[in-house]
Amino acid sequence: MAKKSKQIYCRLISMLILGYVMLQYFSLQFMDYSSDRLTDDSMYKKISKKFNMTKFFPPFYRVSTISVINRYISEVNEEQEILNERKFGPIENSSVVIVIQVHNGASYLQSLIENLSRARGISEALLIFSHDFYDDKINDYVLAIEFSKVMQIYYPHSIQTHSNKFPGTAPHDCPRNITRLKALSKRCNNALNPDLHGHYRVAEYTQEKHHWWWKANQVFHKLQVIHNFSGLVLFLEEDYIVAEDILYVLMKMQQVANKFCSDCNAFCLGNRLNSLKLLSKQDIIEYSKVQYSAWSSEQHSIALAFNRTTWSAIRSCAQDFCTYDDYKWDRSLEYVAKNCMEPKLNVLAVKKSRAFSTRNWPKLNVSKTDVELRLASKFGQLYPFKLKLSSLMMKTEQPVEQIRSGEWADPRDHRLCLSAANAVDIN
Ligand SMILES: *[C@@H]1O[C@H](CO)[C@@H](O)[C@H](O)[C@H]1NC(C)=O
Ligand SMILES: *[C@@H]1O[C@H](CO)[C@@H](O)[C@H](O)[C@H]1NC(C)=O
Ligand SMILES: *[C@@H]1O[C@H](CO)[C@@H](O)[C@H](O)[C@H]1NC(C)=O
Ligand SMILES: *[C@@H]1O[C@H](CO)[C@@H](O)[C@H](O)[C@H]1NC(C)=O
Ligand SMILES: *[C@@H]1O[C@H](CO)[C@@H](O)[C@H](O)[C@H]1NC(C)=O
Ligand SMILES: *[C@@H]1O[C@H](CO)[C@@H](O)[C@H](O)[C@H]1NC(C)=O
Ligand SMILES: *[C@@H]1O[C@H](CO)[C@@H](O)[C@H](O)[C@H]1NC(C)=O
Repeated sequence: MAKKSKQIYCRLISMLILGYVMLQYFSLQFMDYSSDRLTDDSMYKKISKKFNMTKFFPPFYRVSTISVINRYISEVNEEQEILNERKFGPIENSSVVIVIQVHNGASYLQSLIENLSRARGISEALLIFSHDFYDDKINDYVLAIEFSKVMQIYYPHSIQTHSNKFPGTAPHDCPRNITRLKALSKRCNNALNPDLHGHYRVAEYTQEKHHWWWKANQVFHKLQVIHNFSGLVLFLEEDYIVAEDILYVLMKMQQVANKFCSDCNAFCLGNRLNSLKLLSKQDIIEYSKVQYSAWSSEQHSIALAFNRTTWSAIRSCAQDFCTYDDYKWDRSLEYVAKNCMEPKLNVLAVKKSRAFSTRNWPKLNVSKTDVELRLASKFGQLYPFKLKLSSLMMKTEQPVEQIRSGEWADPRDHRLCLSAANAVDIN
């Protein structure tokens, strides 16, 4: 009897030892990946390939997985690696820096990358992918790009890596639709500050504005490669479709800006009001037309471009941008453009869109934009030689009461947002 229990005991001990050794092995593997300096392209690609969390860690190991993602993110942000730089050379002030905000839409992103690969002038551009979600597939698509310089940055306060604490949903956060009275008696987080519609914070709603703001700050102030760059930064999102002449038209717009509108300080390549009815003859001539007006979120939030001078004017309104009770970055930008910015935000915009958001544009679908752009191309309307200022001026400066969406009243969000602009320390 005693012998048998001794045997069982021995077996248990050896199993424990084996388990311990295996655990050490796995953690060593990851120590290796994260302590490796990411020296050149191929090394970087290899590590990213090896870095397959789903394979190594079953779900119960989540916490470690997240700490591994966190380490990877801070390494990538620190390293600021530019892929294909040797092939395409350094950026010039005449280059365009394209910043793409990416969440988890791998298939959307694949189309955008394909569209960009055909854009004239793309080989002189720098593509910066700004992620708020680590995904192997997306990483693979980005690392496979050969047609221009590429950099990746990661928003470090994502919900993915903060799934049960702020900026994710923390354990004692108030439910969105609880009444203020109930919230106060429950003493849940932020009970004192529901938004203007009486709702409490929803983590998922807040991420996009945080990410937009963080990435603009990161690009203009933290990236070495942008340090001496005074040219244009073009902002895109993962679900866009872009026309092949998008960069060409942007450069043309920059050339004529002084002549057409001496006070415009932003460019827009995606006109939201551009209805996609199939082309008529008259429509076709519109491809060479540009319009000029005060910036509005309704019309000008797709494919917006500006330089550091304009960014500085926006950033000086950080306080307003970060505390305005609206979770949409474009509504917040419109608010500061009208109430704080000096000079105001004035935009030169294409009459016919060169960029389309497929996700937020329910009536739009890929084949429809394709048909339109193919027709335009067939009739030789893309790559307009000369831009014309449309006689049909868009309405400027209308004192309409802006409708606020809310969902942005939690002081924690305000602080996080301000911290991205280094206005206050995050605590
Ligand atoms: C990562 O591992 C999972 C599970 O084994 C697999 O399905 C997936 O294809 C792998 N991804 C990559 C990029 O290798
Ligand atoms: C870009 O132009 C600025 C002046 O506007 C200059 O200081 C800077 O060196 C230039 N950068 C490059 C990369 O040529
Ligand atoms: C964009 O890419 C998608 C996916 O490859 C393709 O179907 C579409 O035709 C492209 N559109 C343009 C304008 O290049
Ligand atoms: C609040 O939301 C929860 C879950 O979304 C729902 O079940 C509940 O009915 C809502 N309560 C009110 C008062 O709307
Ligand atoms: C910026 O330009 C200055 C002057 O040309 C140079 O000394 C500095 O190294 C450059 N900085 C970067 C990050 O390229
Ligand atoms: C940046 O844009 C502003 C406004 O459009 C313009 O006045 C300025 O010349 C631009 N700066 C550079 C260095 O191109
Ligand atoms: C996209 O739009 C075209 C033209 O209106 C239509 O024929 C097609 O069925 C639509 N496709 C989808 C998936 O909605």
